[in-house]
Amino acid sequence: MCGIIGYTGTSNALPKMMKGLSVLEYRGYDSVGVAAQRGKETEIMKCKGRIGALEEKLRDHPIEGSHCAIGHTRWATHGGPSDENAHPHRAGEVILVHNGIIENYKELRAELADKGVAFLSETDTEVAAALINDCYAVSRDPIKAIRSATARMKGAFAFGILFDGHVGEVYVIRRGSPLILARGADGYYLASDMTALLPFTREYCAMKENEIARLAPDGVRIYLSDQTEVAPDWKTTTMTPESAQKGGYDHFMLKEIHEQPQAVVKSVSPRVGKTGLPDFSSDGIEADFWRGVKSIQIVACGSAMHAGLVGIRLIEDLAKVPTTVHIASEYRYHPPIMPDGTLVVVISQSGETADTLAALRYAKENGVPTLAIVNAVETTIAREADRRIYTYAGPEIAVATTKGYCTQASVLWMIAAAIAHATGRISDEKAREVVQSLLCDVPAAMEQMLSREDRYRKIARGLIDHEHVFYIGRGVDYALSMEAALKLKEISYIHCEAYAAGELKHGTISLIEPGTPVLAISTEKDLFDKTESNIREVRSRGAQVTLICRSDIPVHQETADELISLPVSSDAATVFSALLAIQCIAYETASLLGCDIDRPRNLAKSVTVE
Ligand code: F6R
Repeated sequence: MCGIIGYTGTSNALPKMMKGLSVLEYRGYDSVGVAAQRGKETEIMKCKGRIGALEEKLRDHPIEGSHCAIGHTRWATHGGPSDENAHPHRAGEVILVHNGIIENYKELRAELADKGVAFLSETDTEVAAALINDCYAVSRDPIKAIRSATARMKGAFAFGILFDGHVGEVYVIRRGSPLILARGADGYYLASDMTALLPFTREYCAMKENEIARLAPDGVRIYLSDQTEVAPDWKTTTMTPESAQKGGYDHFMLKEIHEQPQAVVKSVSPRVGKTGLPDFSSDGIEADFWRGVKSIQIVACGSAMHAGLVGIRLIEDLAKVPTTVHIASEYRYHPPIMPDGTLVVVISQSGETADTLAALRYAKENGVPTLAIVNAVETTIAREADRRIYTYAGPEIAVATTKGYCTQASVLWMIAAAIAHATGRISDEKAREVVQSLLCDVPAAMEQMLSREDRYRKIARGLIDHEHVFYIGRGVDYALSMEAALKLKEISYIHCEAYAAGELKHGTISLIEPGTPVLAISTEKDLFDKTESNIREVRSRGAQVTLICRSDIPVHQETADELISLPVSSDAATVFSALLAIQCIAYETASLLGCDIDRPRNLAKSVTVE
């Protein structure tokens, strides 16, 4: 995934580009660049590295007096991170920034090369620029050139485009990749994500698939594929500039961890009816819909898939609806059987993950009803699903998800309660109890867990010198262990495996040697004795054990080297508290190791390639 931005208006464009790009860096940070018009000339400045590298270049060669510019921050797909592969790309009279992927770029490149076009980079983006330029040479009309060139492109894209001779004009098109237009007091903007524009304005318009827009200082014109013009549908976002800033925390990840208690309340409360029962009617989902659901397939990637693994337990236990969880990138290769009454639930924080989107489209092609649990509003997954439930976590900037996952789990908990109640499997009283536990016990317990930084840091100190770490758990704790291992790996670069506690002895226990850190999670009272046996197995082989455990289980001193006790005001409170502990342990470990916590190497916030 990459981030794009653009501006045209009466103010100085470069400071806006740099500010917006610094917010968009979470989408990719391999290389960065801007193209800025100065009169009839357009200057391009780009380089490998982060925004700081570009700032340095601009200090040596400032671009001043530009009122129209586009910018890009890259996560490399075609062609490694380098100055040449950085965007913007110029081809003839066209200068372009791109978020997405042109799947058929090799054929197009060969065809253009036959016509004598020389390419300077290895990117699919330069091919897109060259194709638009080729079409522009014929029509001399930017809109027609964009339309005919993109008709030949396969894949996903959002482009910001400048044409030589079209002073003050920025052209945009999107298909499959996100793009927002915005209007401020001093001009018009485009960006991959509204958070990049919050320092300038809150008024936005979400571009629809295949629409082309022309931005100029005097306004925005949007054209449909049949060339008819439509008026922009301006809306005002509820996000504030502060929501996209660190707010005094060292990292976005820490800020987002701390936002979780409130994020759960924001996700759950819109789904509580007047009588305190689960009620998704504000999402357009009535009890009748839940009654028709006979089986559920949850499809997602990474942490979102892990949230699904928590969801499966709740939906099956509470609602007794058979549920399976699928890795989105695998879903289509082993097509699951979808009997009548199947509901496909896709989960995605960004709403743009290509693998999840492909799985959603596969389900739709097969005529199966789909429901998306999404955080980022008006994104492709949210739009394409038959029904959508927003998680209202607010902007998540750190690459490693925390509040995204947490709100997905809380919405799944509510869905389980809604189905169970609609089908008469649980009483009003029990349904209200679940709702209250999410609205009151969970936030309170998470707040309590937030104050244990010293403990997390102590445990982190025991991890930093190790190459391998294990998380173990049974039932829902196995699902939490998977999320815990992913969090630790991605931000601290320490290898960590999650194991079903009972499975370790079937082979992997051979990796346990004196000092190996093993973290065991135990939120389910009934399963503690068995997990404790597994802890004994690893301890007797020298493992250093940290136990994250319900506080109402008496734990012998010799069971673990370190103990984190979890509040037990409700099942949900215990599970979400364990989640908070594992996130903080990962954060503190990465912090002690001096890792780039918000932007771990090789990663992007949302992966828009398959
Ligand atoms: C891990 C993480 C990823 C995402 C995954 C899906 O911390 O953030 O594993 O959960 O890439 O992303 P979304 O939810 O945007 O579809």
